[in-house]
Amino acid sequence: MAGKVALRQSMIVVDHPLLRVHLTRLRDRNTPADQFRLHLTAIARLMAYPVLEFLETVPVSVVTPMAPAVGAELAQVPILVPVLRAGLGLVEGFRDVIPGAIVSHLGLYRDHHTLKPVRYYTNFPSAYRDHPFLLLDPMLATGGSAVDALDYLKDEGARHIRLISVIAAPEGVDRVGASHPDVPIFTAAVDERLNESGYILPGLGDAGDRQFGTL
Ligand code: URA
Repeated sequence: MAGKVALRQSMIVVDHPLLRVHLTRLRDRNTPADQFRLHLTAIARLMAYPVLEFLETVPVSVVTPMAPAVGAELAQVPILVPVLRAGLGLVEGFRDVIPGAIVSHLGLYRDHHTLKPVRYYTNFPSAYRDHPFLLLDPMLATGGSAVDALDYLKDEGARHIRLISVIAAPEGVDRVGASHPDVPIFTAAVDERLNESGYILPGLGDAGDRQFGTL
């Protein structure tokens, strides 16, 4: 289970030796897509534990081979919201840790003219709006998509949301913090800055292309 280091009120940088090793493999431009996917899944698995520490449980009774005992089960299963495409790479690792998690995909692309995010696919699980939501997007770059995704989730009625990234740029953290100060941001690294095209430096390149081999 990964440890935590709190840097800012709304941001938690998750640190663990294995996380650092897997992240290094992600950053390496020579890591092929199949390996990239495995390292990303390993990172998601490691991050899931500290991210899910806030989950509430309710007492349940079981009978052991020896005697009755009181145990625990989750009060509410979390909803995973991967932002297509790159967020898909975090789903498997989180589901390994919580197999019962519900997955609600969100498709966003950036319009080349307006540079604004456009939603092309939504699938909000209205019956679960009171449950905890985990917005999954491995790269928090400008923060534009994350802010739009958070606007969308809140408009639909979600109230308990955490944003999970793997690499964040300070610009993205500031932008999300300004628009959604109530949403904690979990990340495995905060990199230096964005380049003029909005890519994170040093980053890892395009997380969608790297995991799906569409370079
Ligand atoms: N999205 C990516 O996949 N990589 C970046 O560096 C920035 C946004």
